[in-house]
Amino acid sequence: MSATIAELLAIRLNEALANTDFSSGLPEGFVARVEQAQNRQFGDYQSNAAMVLAKQVKRNPREVAAAIIESFEGGEVSEKPEIAGPGFINFRLQTGFLEGRLGGLLDDEEKLGVSPSGTPQTIVADFSAPNVAKPMHVGHIRSTIIGDSLTRIASFLGHHVISDNHIGDWGTQFGMILWGWKHLLNEDALEADPIPELLRIYREVNAKTKEDEALRDECKNELVKLQGGDAGNLAIWERCIALSRIGLQKIYDRLDVKFDLWLGESFYNDRLAPLVDSLLAADIAEESEGAICVFFPNEKQLADKPALIRKSDGGFLYATTDLATIDYRIEELKADAVWYVVGAPQQLHFDQIFRIAKRRGQNAELEFIPFGSILGKDRKMLRTRSGDTVQLADVLEEAVERALKIVEEKNPEFSPGEKKEIAEIIGIGSVKYAELSQFRMTDYIFDWDTMLALKGNTAPYLINAYVRTRAIFRKLGSDFEPGGTITFTADAEKDLALKLAQFAEIVPAVLSDFRPNTLATYLYELATTYHRFWEACPVLKEEGAVRETRLALCEVTGRVLRCGLGLLGIKTTEKM
Ligand code: ARG
Repeated sequence: MSATIAELLAIRLNEALANTDFSSGLPEGFVARVEQAQNRQFGDYQSNAAMVLAKQVKRNPREVAAAIIESFEGGEVSEKPEIAGPGFINFRLQTGFLEGRLGGLLDDEEKLGVSPSGTPQTIVADFSAPNVAKPMHVGHIRSTIIGDSLTRIASFLGHHVISDNHIGDWGTQFGMILWGWKHLLNEDALEADPIPELLRIYREVNAKTKEDEALRDECKNELVKLQGGDAGNLAIWERCIALSRIGLQKIYDRLDVKFDLWLGESFYNDRLAPLVDSLLAADIAEESEGAICVFFPNEKQLADKPALIRKSDGGFLYATTDLATIDYRIEELKADAVWYVVGAPQQLHFDQIFRIAKRRGQNAELEFIPFGSILGKDRKMLRTRSGDTVQLADVLEEAVERALKIVEEKNPEFSPGEKKEIAEIIGIGSVKYAELSQFRMTDYIFDWDTMLALKGNTAPYLINAYVRTRAIFRKLGSDFEPGGTITFTADAEKDLALKLAQFAEIVPAVLSDFRPNTLATYLYELATTYHRFWEACPVLKEEGAVRETRLALCEVTGRVLRCGLGLLGIKTTEKM
């Protein structure tokens, strides 16, 4: 569709500004901005431009605001703006304009007013990336859910997104896994469910090595053999990866998360030695006590934190692999941007490799998108009762079980198949929404009762709001019929129409700081606005244009809720 409301108002505001008597005193390139009003009491949109400018032209802000308003042409968009407080300019939209916007939304079934990005990019999204045969912990849960949502939103905005699961398939853990595989493996358990069995091996060997130095050496020996290309160890390793992938794929299927590529760390093995050589040749890396490092003497924060890229024993490191990965993504995948959704503790690592990339003249936008921890109710790191790291597969299973109980209570009349299907949607949706409704850097508390509650800022509440928009058409006995007249007769209708039109402003804003939680907050506010409309405005009891208008509002609300939840990776159901 066309420009957003904020953009339309900003165009008019800047035109007005150009016509004021102080316009010649404006700083070069100044653009006045318009934002959604914080408090609707004073209007629908607002601008603080007069306050910013008053300082520049040394005048009273309210006077500046008055002068701008004087030459402001609202046209069919806005009424005459008002001045508030110290010099805010407040805009109130024309009813006819909002009616037109609702009509536009109805016609734009797929994008619902959201314009594609003006500068579409090729983006490689690096998220989830668990380590094979090691526990996939809560950090990976966060990365998977946030990364998937950002991927969906970027694609929706017209970017070409390549999701790449950079699994840790070549780490030192394989020394222990190989030893365990040869001495402790239970083949039947492995066949039945590989991930837990690999995990059991890893944990057992890991525990044993704590007391047994000889065993540590044996494990190291297995690792060296693997890295040296020993056929037997390579065969075991390959099977490990294949089995883990099957196990992981099950989790991703349940989460409805898709990867275009699975280029794990091992994919880059052959590229590491030449890469280090080229860094040496370019004088970016240097030898230090037998190892190869990159120093950052000119960067304050990294001055005493060199990046190690080859150990003195010849081994390569996590950083080396990531540098090779950047090359591949830029050169082969043609990435304009690479997004890394990885926990905050890896900040230093990404600072280092991004600096090195810059020095190598690589200009792709490299974005580290960090997140905090998930806490238990005791505010400590989330753990299972036995003290282990919580496994994603178990979290999903329990979420669905709990959702099923709720569905059974709420809808005992549904068939067992329906109940299962709805429980899956609500259970998985709740886990995702608990994550995405928080700012990613927040350490949030994982609490089943809160996330599954039917009231409040939760997935069940939002999915239920969608269900209510659908219920009305079931009652009506037919789907929405386009072409009716739209004319507002109640404030609650205007409020809802405004909220719906703002979807177009919210979706692109998510990517400015990678915050899906702004979309979550918007959807929650949309649901509560819809609820107020629902209480204030009967639909099926009305006739003619009033009824047509209200049906249109229900229809568009349903579409925006479904689309918005979809961008968070959350499915909807037609009834619950
Ligand atoms: N496997 C790593 C971990 O579990 C995450 C990898 C993130 N991606 C990357 N390109 N380094 O910590």
